[in-house]
Amino acid sequence: MLDTMDIETEAAIELDHRHVAHNYSPLPVVAASAQGSWITDIEGRRYLDCLAAYSAVNFGHRNPELTATAHAQLDTVTLVSRAFHSDRLGPFCAALAALCGKDMVLPMNSGAEAVESGIKIARKWGVDIKGVPAGQANIIVARNNFHGRTTTIISFSDDDTARRGFGPYTPGFRSVPFGPDDPYADAIDDAIDDDTVAVLIEPIQGEAGIIVPPDDYLPRVRALCTERNVLMIADEIQSGLARTGRTFACDHWGVVPDIYLLGKALGGGIVPLSAVVADRDILTVLHPGEHGSTFGGNPLAAAIGTTVVDMLRRGEFQTRSTELGAHLHTRLDELIGRGVVAVRGKGLWAGVDVDPVHGTGKQISLALADRGVLVKDTHGSTLRFAPPLVVTADELDWAVDQLAGVLTETGSH
Ligand SMILES: Cc1ncc(COP(=O)(O)O)c(C=O)c1O
Repeated sequence: MLDTMDIETEAAIELDHRHVAHNYSPLPVVAASAQGSWITDIEGRRYLDCLAAYSAVNFGHRNPELTATAHAQLDTVTLVSRAFHSDRLGPFCAALAALCGKDMVLPMNSGAEAVESGIKIARKWGVDIKGVPAGQANIIVARNNFHGRTTTIISFSDDDTARRGFGPYTPGFRSVPFGPDDPYADAIDDAIDDDTVAVLIEPIQGEAGIIVPPDDYLPRVRALCTERNVLMIADEIQSGLARTGRTFACDHWGVVPDIYLLGKALGGGIVPLSAVVADRDILTVLHPGEHGSTFGGNPLAAAIGTTVVDMLRRGEFQTRSTELGAHLHTRLDELIGRGVVAVRGKGLWAGVDVDPVHGTGKQISLALADRGVLVKDTHGSTLRFAPPLVVTADELDWAVDQLAGVLTETGSH
């Protein structure tokens, strides 16, 4: 693709290269507009978006219901900070808490902030409620986790690229094998001690390659947390809000965590909006001055978040994800043995392991972009399919046909 790049595209990428920090390695596609499941680049080429901004665009680009809310709110009030109340924040938090079956919400902005906030709340709960000596709390995390990019969060990452050079690291975390490597959560059982305040877990690991745990795993984690008086924190920032066919991935196993961490799609693909959602006995460990954010819970984000919750309450996106996800998985499964080694996932979320004979994940992603399909590689030869939930069956068929075409072109058979 780079060889055939047009002048405008090349100039835009060159400008990025000079002035944008090189902390990503994007595909050479320069988006100029987007609608529904499609992105149009500055040369007018259209691409089917099968990434959906890492699931932040679950409801489609510029979803009309969400843009109508945003336009209306732009004409009233957008930001007052938490120094005052706003008429938008209470209704949003009440609606989101109800969706989660919880009492209260701490609104933040990015996903990483929600995770940081969850960690602080768990530590404070440990000291104030559980009686863990101050500074002694430990939190159990899963191997190959991805929870964001702050200094504390990368402190318990196993990804050398994410960690190297950024120390000193925050102590207080214990890493144990995840789901498929520990189906009965025995490692969590062994790791919990008197000073453990939380188990922080992605119910389905996203960045690790859409790793779905065995069926006994999360119910067992839930039971252990209850038995041992430890908070179960589910990071549903990528897996939640209809991506897997249920409101939360935990719902697939009938598991209710003590704390939900939400982000990405909560802001409707329009604004950053994240949240920590829990019952009163947990969230009230925070008092004025102990935590905050200037933009957290701003009226614009709260208005959009309220519409997101309304849309999720209707259930249509969960249904679309279930039905279209079954279709996507059936089509992708047909490629196993024809260049694909394995397919994992739930709903409209699929991790596709490509036989490395066909190239790296990045090379396959580039070839797919040439054919008008945008996906993101993760960990070597794994591709992630997570299209907006407004995608159609015909569009999915076309995307899988393009993958089949790339595999045929690149195959040695
Ligand atoms: C499970 C999970 N948690 C947290 C984050 C961090 O979110 P953000 O990039 O908004 O900080 C991500 C981002 O991909 C994620 O997938």
